[in-house]
Amino acid sequence: AQKLILDVDTGTDDAVAIMLAALHPEIELIGVTTVNGNVEVKFCTDNTLRVLDHIGRSDIPVYEGSNRPFVRDNFPVARGVTDQASKFHVETLPVPAAKSKKADKGAVDYLVETYRNAKEPIVLMPVGPLTNIAAALAADPDFAKRVPELIIMGGGHEIGNMTPSAEFNIWADPEAAARVFSAGFEKVTLVTLDATHRALISYADCDHLAMLGTPAAQATSDIVRFRIEMHDISQKMEVLGTAPVHDAVCVAYLVDRDVLTTRHLHVDVETGGALTVGRTVIDTHFRGNREPNAHVAFDADPKRFVAMMTEIFSHPHG
Ligand code: BDR
Ligand code: CA
Repeated sequence: AQKLILDVDTGTDDAVAIMLAALHPEIELIGVTTVNGNVEVKFCTDNTLRVLDHIGRSDIPVYEGSNRPFVRDNFPVARGVTDQASKFHVETLPVPAAKSKKADKGAVDYLVETYRNAKEPIVLMPVGPLTNIAAALAADPDFAKRVPELIIMGGGHEIGNMTPSAEFNIWADPEAAARVFSAGFEKVTLVTLDATHRALISYADCDHLAMLGTPAAQATSDIVRFRIEMHDISQKMEVLGTAPVHDAVCVAYLVDRDVLTTRHLHVDVETGGALTVGRTVIDTHFRGNREPNAHVAFDADPKRFVAMMTEIFSHPHG
């Protein structure tokens, strides 16, 4: 099985990603780190513990991370902020309170120590703001060299969701994101909104999941229904009754590389810009004459994604 560390801001779609990673037989989820993002980090941690308990995987340790962006005290201020992220997430997810507790060690120490001592490749998958990853880079000058593959949910080329030009995870900590893209990681995959919005989940998919009757299938159905309700209110471009489940697409891609289509390109992050702070500047036409630093996903295969969730969540667990 592929060893994985998930870095999350749970988060509705983060919760689905955690369940898919924790229950997939081809993935060994060795730890989960949390970061300030969709909700305050203490709620992200609590939600993460709840989700793991709910599916009978409280053996997976949870390490709490940064409670604010890497450089800034708070999220950026930009014209055009839609405050959309807050609508899609709740401080407490609709699963029972957790019995398990977070680990004593902090997320950044855990990341640095784990990669320093790693004997086998461990994929790192941040699906929240990149604060913990920037902090790990600052703490260990060799951190980038030690991580064989980084799969990031963030950014967008056609689509922004926090502002017209920026996606939430990158917008929420642009200085951290800029450090990550220039750090020289061996292999970076960037799963943008352009890709995750190609893998929309419908009410019919939720009905199907609910019928499976397992704790993960039921929780996913409830959570995605909530996301669809919010998405229907806030968007004008997509079929009503559907929603993206961004973070879970990254997990699906880890085990089925045909879930996403990628291009090897140069990615930079705008850290200033009254209108564009937090934008991923993706050089799709090779204007900047710089070496590609990321495999950028612009498209996804919704059928493969939904089929995997349905298959994995249908098995008895918990
Ligand atoms: C990303 O932002 C968060 O709100 C979601 O959990 C996802 O990681 C989508 O822009
Ligand atoms: Ca997230």
